[in-house]
Amino acid sequence: MTPVRVAVLVSGGGTNLQALLDALHDSPLARVARVITNRSDAGALARARRHDVPTTQLRDPDDAAELLAALAEAPQADLVVLAGYLKLVPPTVVARFRWRMINIHPALLPAHGGPGMYGRRVHEAVLASGAAESGVTVHYVDEQYDRGPIIAQARVPVLPGDTAEALAARVLEAEHRLLPLVVLELARRGIPNEPVRLS
Ligand code: GRF
Repeated sequence: MTPVRVAVLVSGGGTNLQALLDALHDSPLARVARVITNRSDAGALARARRHDVPTTQLRDPDDAAELLAALAEAPQADLVVLAGYLKLVPPTVVARFRWRMINIHPALLPAHGGPGMYGRRVHEAVLASGAAESGVTVHYVDEQYDRGPIIAQARVPVLPGDTAEALAARVLEAEHRLLPLVVLELARRGIPNEPVRLS
């Protein structure tokens, strides 16, 4: 069996990309085959280059044809992972990669997601809600921000006196554990062509 080729879409620093690079580099199940970004200054690009992973910088992230071409370029992507990708994926691309495109979100969806809910704002919203716990959600990408079927979640406590930064750091650690687990499990199952729920 050839390893599942994973394309990772990123806009930022790429610590989740790094977790995937580290977890997959000696896996027979999956490998990071391409990193695609909408930002020329994404720190994730340097991480990809250090691992000899080809990169693509999109000229226009709203251009479905351009993104589809990047995903089709050899090595053609079997699975697409949005890891801190801040643009809405064009519907044509979502449809082409139905059940083969996943996103990681730093809260327990369906709470604290949707347009504009990224980065620090997510953790501020969790703290403002008074929730006793937060966590990570990995879910399928559909045509709306943060709304596709959930694949897996991991919970972390909200602690007394937490700041958004402290909570973000705790959630990020959980992200780095959960995302590779999900990718490897989907790869082990041959990227099922229907939604699966793992946890
Ligand atoms: C993570 O919190 C992820 O859940 C969110 O964006 C952040 C990306 O961080 N979607 P990094 O670029 O992987 O460090």
